[in-house]
Amino acid sequence: MVMDIDQHYSHHMDETTLLNQLRLQYPDGPTLYQLAPIDQLHIGGIKASEKLLKLLQQQQPRRILEIGSGAGGLMRMIASQFNAEVIGIDITHRFNRLNRALTELSGTPLSSVISCDAQQLPFADNCFDCIIFQHSLLNIPNTERCLQECLRVLNANGSLLLHEVLQGPNQQQMCYPVPWARTAEQSHLITFEALSAQLQQSGFQLKGAENWSEEALQWRQRQADKEKGNETDKERKAPLISPIQILGEDFKKMGPNVITNLSEDAVQVWQLSCTATA
Ligand SMILES: C[S@@+](CC[C@H](N)C(=O)[O-])C[C@H]1O[C@@H](n2cnc3c(N)ncnc32)[C@H](O)[C@@H]1O
Repeated sequence: MVMDIDQHYSHHMDETTLLNQLRLQYPDGPTLYQLAPIDQLHIGGIKASEKLLKLLQQQQPRRILEIGSGAGGLMRMIASQFNAEVIGIDITHRFNRLNRALTELSGTPLSSVISCDAQQLPFADNCFDCIIFQHSLLNIPNTERCLQECLRVLNANGSLLLHEVLQGPNQQQMCYPVPWARTAEQSHLITFEALSAQLQQSGFQLKGAENWSEEALQWRQRQADKEKGNETDKERKAPLISPIQILGEDFKKMGPNVITNLSEDAVQVWQLSCTATA
């Protein structure tokens, strides 16, 4: 059976336990670092988000849209460091509810979160200075339609930033499940070359591209070591929050599969920076 993408993310989500655990463990509110295991659901974690923030610092946008904002880790970082309005959209309604609850719990400035599909954005033309994708284009079936929508809602010369998993040269080696897909039907990876061509056709100019795959692999290997440590050390350590509380027990296979897929060059991790042509 093929699961809808919102079911993939929400079917195993245990937000009640998660929120109770956070309230108990951090009575003064969790920091953004303490939330990272569940609200930075991308390869590279909070460090990868800090890299994106450096690009934002250069651009200083005033109105930002994050597409596929998930549990909202990047939105909270932006809202706490920038004098900008940030709006998140996500197709998984339960992620949006969790996002709002985590913002309240952590005491970060409130932002708007809307449940909708990135292929049909509920915004007027030319109303954002910047759009960010962080591991969300990888779930979107129609890249072309999605990029057209981005161009429509962006101001002329607005920026588009992407931190995404792309298809590598050895895609036939791909192992599932991965954190963004339990089966191939939920994964919509395209190559760097195909994405560059689509960006150009859709009216974007590619300004910068960095292949982060090596760093991404090292980061995932460090996470795997930490996760193993937690399992053997349950008695002494207070229970930590984990992506298992979002993605379920399958996460125990997803993490190792990310390492295999990166090692085999079945996937790559890229950061791209583009400008909308006027
Ligand atoms: C791998 S998660 C990443 C979440 C978040 N950006 C992060 O890095 O923690 C992918 C997110 O994209 C959202 N998503 C997938 N397809 C979407 C679509 N068509 N429109 C809007 N959001 C979508 C999912 O619900 C999920 O929250």
